[in-house]
Amino acid sequence: MNPMKYRMVIQVCIDGQTGSGKTHSIMGATNDDDDEAGIIPRAIYHIFDYLRSEKAVGRMASVRVSMIELYNDECKDLLHPEIPSRDIMIREDKHGRIFFTGAREEVVTNAATAMQYLEQGNLNRSTAETMMNQNSSRSHAIFTISLEMLEYAVSFSV
Ligand SMILES: Nc1ncnc2c1ncn2[C@@H]1O[C@H](COP(=O)(O)OP(=O)(O)O)[C@@H](O)[C@H]1O
Ligand SMILES: [Mg+2]
Repeated sequence: MNPMKYRMVIQVCIDGQTGSGKTHSIMGATNDDDDEAGIIPRAIYHIFDYLRSEKAVGRMASVRVSMIELYNDECKDLLHPEIPSRDIMIREDKHGRIFFTGAREEVVTNAATAMQYLEQGNLNRSTAETMMNQNSSRSHAIFTISLEMLEYAVSFSV
């Protein structure tokens, strides 16, 4: 049996003037109204809905999250603010793909825990979301969800 291994990277980047709706689109409204949920909460719920569904039967999965902030040319681990920013680095591989090292990942086993990390990371950002000033537009956050799946059952067709 040769387990198939592949890697897929999906990145959602949102850029725009302060007040144009970036936070609204990526995070959503602060109330719990599902219609107003942003891209990250939707992705989190989608992943765990999938993992609990029949489609994921026969697969082992692990989900990890991390969150960093780029602010004034420095990186910060928003889930572990005690990590010195010099330990977190943004790099580029030989194919031109951007990745970062040094941020600590947290294993999550349900959507609620993933959402808690997202909220905790937001609270640790350098500027409050409501500040409509030059500083708030210099803070960029990257929330990463890593999903690893291993197919351990194979079906044989006759
Ligand atoms: N599509 C939308 N529908 C309703 N309200 C929105 C929408 N986009 C943005 N807003 C509101 O406009 C204001 C500014 O949006 P925000 O997402 O904070 O901007 P940014 O993060 O780009 O600075 C917020 O009060 C937000 O709730
Ligand atoms: Mg914003």
